[in-house]
Amino acid sequence: MKINLENIKKAKYLLNKKECVAIPTETVYGIAGNAYSDKACKKIFGLKNRPLNNPLIIHYYDLKKLKNDCDLNSDFLKLYKKFCPGPITFILNQKKTSKISKVATNKKNTLAVRFPKHPVARNLLKYLKFPIAAPSANISSRISAVTSADVKDDFGKKIKYILEGGRSSVGVESTIIDIRKKPKILRLGGLEVGIIQKILDKKISINVNPHKILAPGQLKIHYSPGIPIRLNVKKIKKDEALLLIKKKKINKSNYYFLSRKGNLKEATRNLYTILRQIKKDNYKSIAVGKIPNKGFGKTINDRLLRASKF
Ligand code: TXA
Ligand code: MG
Repeated sequence: MKINLENIKKAKYLLNKKECVAIPTETVYGIAGNAYSDKACKKIFGLKNRPLNNPLIIHYYDLKKLKNDCDLNSDFLKLYKKFCPGPITFILNQKKTSKISKVATNKKNTLAVRFPKHPVARNLLKYLKFPIAAPSANISSRISAVTSADVKDDFGKKIKYILEGGRSSVGVESTIIDIRKKPKILRLGGLEVGIIQKILDKKISINVNPHKILAPGQLKIHYSPGIPIRLNVKKIKKDEALLLIKKKKINKSNYYFLSRKGNLKEATRNLYTILRQIKKDNYKSIAVGKIPNKGFGKTINDRLLRASKF
């Protein structure tokens, strides 16, 4: 995608003035603000209607900039070298001298950090004098935005500026790993756990049970398109859309496919857009067929399970 420097300049101007802007990343769009500023971070929580005890992810350009705020370790460095910039978020210990706003972290001494790969986000981060706090650009508990139009649908005029970056290529949020001691996955996402495991070459525990809330952000009801979702459905109801992993021979107007051939990565990329589309097409609920529970299929099932708690 071509970078429009004028647009980036405008976003920079607003961020420098402690305003919030929506920014594109390769996972999903984010609502961004100066992570060193209490004022900017408060605005983010207000815009999203997000509980203050749910801390924000902090976005950095590179390691050099992160060193001011966090203690690093060898497991982190291994993953950083292999996957960053990219769709992975690390939980690290914060340095005492860190300047990150206590509003962003809810006074925790840990920090969730990420290095987005999207060229627009990278260009922005490179020339700012502070890291960016940016949760996903959606109203709290709803599905994330993967285009600027999605952000507009959710926030309308409430958001001062939406930095255009095309469609997010990954389509779901980053994978979160607590890397302080024994590596622990806190959220399945845009990077498969299997390949993280290969690089670390040690056991990784997965702690994402949607029936148990461990981190404040692991709210049970999440990623909701705003209408009920039923899982592993065999028989659909009247006025219900059917969401399938793969195109079927028989095609009906209420059938929606995540991928033509059942490719799980493509299905992940399409998931939020199709859920939004079904709502726009006025269906009253969504029935979901079985989705293979492997690789990215695990991420899709995780999101749909949480969305089904609506
Ligand atoms: O892909 C992504 O990660 C996107 C893009 C915009 O970067 N961001 C995103 O942010 O998904 P958000 O706020 O929607 O999800 C971040 C999650 C929340 O569930 C939050 O509770 C958790 O990260 N989190 C933040 N700081 C944490 C911390 N110190 N310890 C544990 N979890 C934390
Ligand atoms: Mg979110």
